Amino acid sequence: MRVHRKVVMARSRGGDKEESAEKYLGLLKLVQILSFLVVFVAGIIIGLSTSSHMHQYFTSQAVLLSSSTHFAAAPVIADLESNCNIVQQQKQKPSCDQADWDLSFGKFIHPTESNATHGMSDSELFWRASMVPFKNGYPFKRTPKVAFMFLTRGPLPMLPLWERFFKGHDKYYSIYVHALPGYKLIVSQDSPFYERQIPSQKVDWGTVEMADAEKRLLANALLDFSNERFVLLSESCIPVYNFPAVYKYLIGSAYSFVESYDDPSRYGRGRYSRRMRPEIMLFQWRKGSQWFEVQRKVAVYIVSDTKYLSLFRKYCKPACYPDEHYIPTYLNIFHGSLNSNRSVTWVDWAMGGPHPATFGPENITEGFIQAIRNNGTMCLYNDDQTSMCNLFARKFAPNALEPLLNLSATVMEF
Ligand SMILES: *[C@@H]1O[C@H](CO)[C@@H](O)[C@H](O)[C@H]1NC(C)=O
Ligand SMILES: *[C@@H]1O[C@H](CO)[C@@H](O)[C@H](O)[C@H]1NC(C)=O
Ligand SMILES: *[C@@H]1O[C@H](CO)[C@@H](O)[C@H](O)[C@H]1NC(C)=O
Ligand SMILES: *[C@@H]1O[C@H](CO)[C@@H](O)[C@H](O)[C@H]1NC(C)=O
Ligand SMILES: *[C@@H]1O[C@H](CO)[C@@H](O)[C@H](O)[C@H]1NC(C)=O
Repeated sequence: MRVHRKVVMARSRGGDKEESAEKYLGLLKLVQILSFLVVFVAGIIIGLSTSSHMHQYFTSQAVLLSSSTHFAAAPVIADLESNCNIVQQQKQKPSCDQADWDLSFGKFIHPTESNATHGMSDSELFWRASMVPFKNGYPFKRTPKVAFMFLTRGPLPMLPLWERFFKGHDKYYSIYVHALPGYKLIVSQDSPFYERQIPSQKVDWGTVEMADAEKRLLANALLDFSNERFVLLSESCIPVYNFPAVYKYLIGSAYSFVESYDDPSRYGRGRYSRRMRPEIMLFQWRKGSQWFEVQRKVAVYIVSDTKYLSLFRKYCKPACYPDEHYIPTYLNIFHGSLNSNRSVTWVDWAMGGPHPATFGPENITEGFIQAIRNNGTMCLYNDDQTSMCNLFARKFAPNALEPLLNLSATVMEF
């Protein structure tokens, strides 16, 4: 169509000039014919190239639009609007205007900010969570957050204590809860735990499913680009410092807090299987508490690993417990320099036996909590000595809640 119109225009224009040219010399006429030819050919070339450029332009815009938020030609906008209408019907959104275009970036950087539920499978989730921006810096004001990841069977008996701990610090944390499938954590809408349950899978304690659940929690928390530190907690854990102190400690740390040590006994090296060679050698084998704290970089390394976790899946079965060996060993082999090799979650193994001590209401005193906060022992923090070694503690029985709440203001300072 365009080509045809251009040709017609060129012809008629050339025709007018041809008529007047007859009055001049033959040489001039020749020049005129030549210029007619030039105009004619130029007309065809311009016509052809314009139409093909236009075609390319619209095609590429359409491709761009399918994945970005640029404006373009009417038919494409109509398509998007019909998509918006579908979204509108599902989510009861009032409109699909400019505000939604802006929101889509917010959704990209904080996809699960208001609701931790999503429809991704584990493999989709781990793949997405493993993505790292290649560009330095952020095109938005990024306040680093601490992701608190609760790995539980069901109820959170210490919930009121945690709610008190988090109160007033909304901008600085995210919460993720992995409970057994089918369990629904019921909390009020103003609780920081509201809609924070992630899609979960069954977890048989002591099996590799525990490590899978830890990875699932890390991956969910990684989806939010503001999360910088990731701490794993159980239902029997409590905080022993207030939020500002915990936040400053974790955000300011150059290292992760994953306990990782070589235990020569049958509870350490004794659990190693030679079938893990050559990827994992006995001298690389480590043990450590399951209750870790890691920085974002380390969290990405963990969710990205399949090879080493599959060795644990195959060769670390009771009396080998993947949750006590997988992350400590994996970090020791590849990322030891990022690790402090100690835990920030206090626990009491003094009684001996396979389980640590559980504290009930009769054990909760000011002196007891003070000793967890600071018992005179020093530890390393960013290569300096400090007496602040534990930020959290376990294990506390559900009925220890009330005396803990009584002490929180005076001893834990929240
Ligand atoms: C959160 O998402 C789940 C699943 O998509 C949905 O069932 C639930 O109603 C959502 N909650 C809110 C408050 O939107
Ligand atoms: C922790 O252990 C690793 C070896 O896995 C070592 O490279 C690193 O220096 C240790 N970190 C500290 C703070 O000592
Ligand atoms: C808790 O207190 C009771 C009573 O004093 C005591 O018997 C028990 O050993 C204490 N538990 C722990 C783990 O210290
Ligand atoms: C302080 O706690 C550490 C472990 O957290 C323990 O090894 C040490 O013996 C304790 N010190 C005192 C004086 O109780
Ligand atoms: C907690 O404090 C209240 C009020 O001070 C007191 O009545 C209650 O007995 C205390 N509970 C425990 C378990 O210490």
